[in-house]
Amino acid sequence: MTEPPGASYPAAGSQDVSVTTPLDPALPAQLLHVALDAAHRASHLLTEQRPADLRVASKSSPTDPVTVMDKASERLIVETVRAVRPDDGVFGEEGSDSAGSSGVVWVIDPIDGTVNYLYAHPHWSVSIAAEVDGEVVAGVVTAPVLDETYAAVVGGGASITTGGKTRRLEFRSAPPLEQALIGTGFGYAPERRRSQGRVLAELIPRVRDIRRDGSAALDICAVALGRLDGYYERGVNRWDTAAAGLVAREAGVRVGGLRGDRDSPQMTVAAPEPLFRTLAGVLAELEADRD
Ligand code: IPD
Ligand code: CA
Repeated sequence: MTEPPGASYPAAGSQDVSVTTPLDPALPAQLLHVALDAAHRASHLLTEQRPADLRVASKSSPTDPVTVMDKASERLIVETVRAVRPDDGVFGEEGSDSAGSSGVVWVIDPIDGTVNYLYAHPHWSVSIAAEVDGEVVAGVVTAPVLDETYAAVVGGGASITTGGKTRRLEFRSAPPLEQALIGTGFGYAPERRRSQGRVLAELIPRVRDIRRDGSAALDICAVALGRLDGYYERGVNRWDTAAAGLVAREAGVRVGGLRGDRDSPQMTVAAPEPLFRTLAGVLAELEADRD
């Protein structure tokens, strides 16, 4: 499994959508409002209408699950968005893929952390991002069982809402790599996991410790919050990182790939500078973006 160097996330639909007019300054906040509504409806569905039988099927490997609720959540999010913005495109983990005609594309992970959802482990989320001309301008990551909702609009900062209170996520500095708490995750294919295990074995003696919580979107938001100092993972998809990447960037966290590339399925790293540079440098030395 190798992606070409600098591989980027695939675009929604078959046609390229280019927006030639400048971004309407009111649009990101309007899109955020729609994303929050869709995320709250999906959260309600996933927590209040969870059936006893999740009708689990496997996707890319026997350990990669999809449940009836992943699909129901994606359907509800698409319906909610389309009810108010019928011309927008959608790109979701469970198969929604249309470019639309408005220039806005919604990037949706209806459950990020499906394995955790399956085991009733609280660490899962719903992730919804709105892109204009391929750039994320609004994003929401909500973790209903944890009672945490992260939100951001481009140029407008990022926030967390918990316990009914919203506060801005401010820039936080991170310690040097030797003192850093680093989050990561693993793919579903055995050969990918073997190479991820090799990288981890080299990295773990050089950091404070490692966490594997099981939702890439929440891991990246955790860096914005200061619950992790940094995060890296090979193999995450655009729906895992779109909303959380904006939350992190708006909180002053650098999100990117290795060797100056953009973040992509090949590698995603998130950390405040200068930790980003050190972590990305070590990961490049370890060839963590190759199998
Ligand atoms: C997974 C989670 C996990 C990460 C995997 C992802 P899913 O997403 O984000 O933390 O390690 O790479 O595939 O499959 O639960 O949506
Ligand atoms: Ca998912």
